[in-house]
Amino acid sequence: MEYQNKIIDESVQGTALELSHELNAEAKKLYLESYGCQMNFSDSEVVASILERDGYQTTRNIDDADVILLNTCSIRENAEQRVRNRLTEFKIKKDRNPQLVVGILGCMAERLKKNLLDEEKLVDLIAGPDAYRDLPNLIEEVGSGQKAANVLLSRDETYADISPVRLDQKGISAFVTITRGCDNMCSFCVVPFTRGRERSRDPQTIVSECKHLFDSGYREVTLLGQNVDSYRWNITAKGEIKNPELPTTNFAQLMEMVALVSPELRVRFSTSHPKDMTDEVLTMMAKYPNICPYIHLPVQSGNSDVLYRMNRGYSREWYIDRIEAIKRIIPGCAISTDIITGFCGETDQEHKDTLSLMDIVQYDFAYMFKYSERPKTLAERRFKDDVSEEIKAQRLNEIIDKQLAHSLASNQRLLGTIQEVLIEGESKRSNSHLCGRTPSNVMVVFPKTDAKKGSYVQVKITECTSATLKGEIV
Ligand code: 5AD
Ligand code: SF4
Repeated sequence: MEYQNKIIDESVQGTALELSHELNAEAKKLYLESYGCQMNFSDSEVVASILERDGYQTTRNIDDADVILLNTCSIRENAEQRVRNRLTEFKIKKDRNPQLVVGILGCMAERLKKNLLDEEKLVDLIAGPDAYRDLPNLIEEVGSGQKAANVLLSRDETYADISPVRLDQKGISAFVTITRGCDNMCSFCVVPFTRGRERSRDPQTIVSECKHLFDSGYREVTLLGQNVDSYRWNITAKGEIKNPELPTTNFAQLMEMVALVSPELRVRFSTSHPKDMTDEVLTMMAKYPNICPYIHLPVQSGNSDVLYRMNRGYSREWYIDRIEAIKRIIPGCAISTDIITGFCGETDQEHKDTLSLMDIVQYDFAYMFKYSERPKTLAERRFKDDVSEEIKAQRLNEIIDKQLAHSLASNQRLLGTIQEVLIEGESKRSNSHLCGRTPSNVMVVFPKTDAKKGSYVQVKITECTSATLKGEIV
């Protein structure tokens, strides 16, 4: 998955996934398409694993499919619209093959629940993010002529024991989920409603999954959670120890446990929350060279009043203090962010505060969005979505322009340097080139040598755009 310098909305692009092993003509075929965040892509690997045990094989060819599942996103209106359009495309297939099962997984399933079955006559099955173990039963129910739904959210499901089927064919970089759900209640956000309460996964299962990945040739893991900084094992939300006989683990300690799997394994994580990111985490990053110096720290707005309306739990000053801590403890650490323009009541001055914050931080990269009101959220209930579409777009363009200039400057600072690059494979654009990322997460393209995928090479950076670097192995 690309998450570098992509300023378009990532949640509207679907990606079909396929297992790497040979197809068995007898097996039932599953076509799985994922939308939205990295967590959804990671969940699709859990889904593939559960259904593989039930005799399914994934296919990239939708015409071969017995079951089509879309793992969906609700974060913005356009993400949902894309899925609705996709469903109407499936209508012809269903008319031709009435046995075909079409199901919706993920956040849209959870948000719309059974309405989805009535509203879109094309859907046979819906399963929310905590209901994937039930998929074999749900598919069977559909086979016996019913519609099937399970949207129960859980307080403890982490799929900890399920070893995900890795759908990314490159076999170098993997996502490992460490927490599920979110307890933050940012006023704009639908996630607490679609993914339920926050819970952490047993650290031993995380470490053994990372060891297994390393032994299978993977060289990079990204620890995933809606808010990784609030990872905690054997500790309550109030900070009390649950069982004094057992060890406790916080995020910094978990990161260390994963970093110790091998110095050859790169460790990344996403997403950090400014209100919870501690100096202990930063110090741990500085201590281990294989924990990549890159932090995604969504700011959303550079104005404290807007942040208050967003219920983010921090001010502009607090955020700047966290940025200063990063720069002090991990000099040269790359920083990226998420920004929303045109949130309820955002004035021109408040928007300018976001621009000025960007100048202070000088982000290496950013995801930027227009505010999209989501049903049932705090903002929908409390505030008016009163910034016009035109002003939202105009403000978005201003922040995009600024970010492109900052990203270019950030990449230009790397010109002439030698970067350690983990080779991910051939460049998409040219089979005479390889590509891979720097520790700071920038994609580098360089002429092929006999260096292998999954190995580390030293690359001298010779050219750049705002999105990528070019160089040569030295
Ligand atoms: N409208 C626009 N952007 C949103 N995000 C979350 N909810 C909304 C919304 N209602 C953005 C935030 C978040 C990222 C994953 O998506 O910037 O960090
Ligand atoms: Fe989309 Fe959020 Fe759900 Fe991820 S958790 S799929 S970003 S709504």
